[in-house]
Amino acid sequence: MLIDFFRYRIKSKYFRIVAVVCILSSLFSCGSFTVEKYYENGVVTTSSPIASDIGLEVLKNGGNAFDAAVAVGFAMAVCLPEAGNIGGGGFAVIYDARSGKIAALDFRETAPAEATSDMYLNQYGEVIENASLLGARAAGVPGTVAGLYELWKKHGTHPWSELIKPAIELADTGFIIDDYNAESFRINERELRTFAETKAAFLKRGTVIKKGERLIQHDLARTLTRIAHDSTDGFYSGMTADMIVQTMQKYDGLIGYDDLHDYHPIWRKPVSFTFDDTLEIYSMPPPSSGGVIVGQILKLLEPFEFTTYSCDSPEYIHLFAEACRLAFADRSVYLGDPDFINNPITQMLDSAYLESRRKLIDPKMAGNSENVKAGVVGRRVESESTTHFCIVDGEGNAVSLTYTLNTAFGSKLVVDGAGFLLNNEMDDFAIKPGVANNWGLIGDKANEIAPHKRMLSSMSPTIVLKKGKPILILGSPGGSKIITTVAEAILDVSRFGMNISQTVKQPRFHHQWLPDTLYLETGGFDINVIQSLITMGYNVKEREPYSDLQMIFIDDTGQKTGASDPRRGGKAVGY
Ligand code: DON
Repeated sequence: MLIDFFRYRIKSKYFRIVAVVCILSSLFSCGSFTVEKYYENGVVTTSSPIASDIGLEVLKNGGNAFDAAVAVGFAMAVCLPEAGNIGGGGFAVIYDARSGKIAALDFRETAPAEATSDMYLNQYGEVIENASLLGARAAGVPGTVAGLYELWKKHGTHPWSELIKPAIELADTGFIIDDYNAESFRINERELRTFAETKAAFLKRGTVIKKGERLIQHDLARTLTRIAHDSTDGFYSGMTADMIVQTMQKYDGLIGYDDLHDYHPIWRKPVSFTFDDTLEIYSMPPPSSGGVIVGQILKLLEPFEFTTYSCDSPEYIHLFAEACRLAFADRSVYLGDPDFINNPITQMLDSAYLESRRKLIDPKMAGNSENVKAGVVGRRVESESTTHFCIVDGEGNAVSLTYTLNTAFGSKLVVDGAGFLLNNEMDDFAIKPGVANNWGLIGDKANEIAPHKRMLSSMSPTIVLKKGKPILILGSPGGSKIITTVAEAILDVSRFGMNISQTVKQPRFHHQWLPDTLYLETGGFDINVIQSLITMGYNVKEREPYSDLQMIFIDDTGQKTGASDPRRGGKAVGY
């Protein structure tokens, strides 16, 4: 299967030899070889074993990938509190097998009507610490419920309320806290104590819930029941809306009834580009930067024959980092909500433009981000959390969906009586030009705050087609590192011939222009590789494991396999 995949791309004898060498070296030097299990019908990969099983049940009961996505989306709002959500937003890239079309659904949060471009600055124009990250004012108008409903309305086949039922039961009867959730609660304990409503939801006998304990969420179950009965009205109006607005009033937030009433998801044209002539890649357009920046990185690298290097060689990491430096510099200036600004996507992916940018890459030495206006970095960095899932059904429909509260547990504020956390997505705006957000990303005018505007994202739910059929469904959390995680994964499969089980385990590297630092995943790289990169001029920093890549691969006979990143304990299931 693996060799077959690679053979499609590589036609000449020379490159076939290189391919085999690469495959062998990837098996031995870049992650261990794993035999993959292939399934005839559907596959679900999520970062929560409970949610994966719920999605699989929906497929087995005759639901399609879109039905399963709705069930998984709501289930994760219960069993992955740090990231699964109804109080946040996200994006989905989907493949509709009947029409053969790919579409992108934007259910990103919006700035409240009362938001202003300087709302996080004090009278001296300085950033007020934490204002865009903690509490009611940090929250954008949530989009998840409207987004999942839109997905279902357009493509679902099973009754809406039935798809939410497993989540309601999970909230009502509870579930046992596993290692990952326990650690996530532990790390965030201090901030989860900020608000009484949040303490009531997640603390037991004065401390955060621990591994092996059962988390019961009755308020959340009641909110989900209202959504099951009244669909979007169960969230954006009536009792849930009352609770959101009351919480806003109590904690000086801005979201009002009109904001909730006016929220709507938007179908957008995916960003698409070809890679190595054989792959067609579809990903999220603005207000996510994900698709465009993944596209720039891959297109900048396309002419380089770096398959002669191994996937963990300094030469490859160098070229990748330089492509990132250029692409992320563009990100900071050009991209924002397409309903407010003109995103020059065609120009950014134009081959002549990319050729001129590629010329800036020195093949041997690290570039320098110094001459570019540097941001004020060093604001407190929060632990991260977003989550991605991939679903494919027996008909060949596919869903690649990333949704988030932004940082772990979002604003840390649970809506009084409603049992769900609000996002802190307002921090993804450029709250002041040149000031880095939580992910170290710098923005400008294109991403400044305005009423009803959607903040720029890095989420990159992606579907890769070959000969018109999906072969890869993938995505990840990780803030700015989502983009490099997804680009590296596509290269691991297409250029280094890895199977997806190897790909999700691969040590990661990341560069985002500013800060001018090359991040290497701790323990993933040989000291000689690190030394070579330092010699090339990189400011190298190791960092703890990040991102949580979820992938599905579909071979040319329609057999499917899933792989879930081992870093967060997710699960791939199929039948
Ligand atoms: O939209 C974005 O780009 C960020 N809010 C995503 C945050 C994220 O991925 C956190 N997860 N690790």
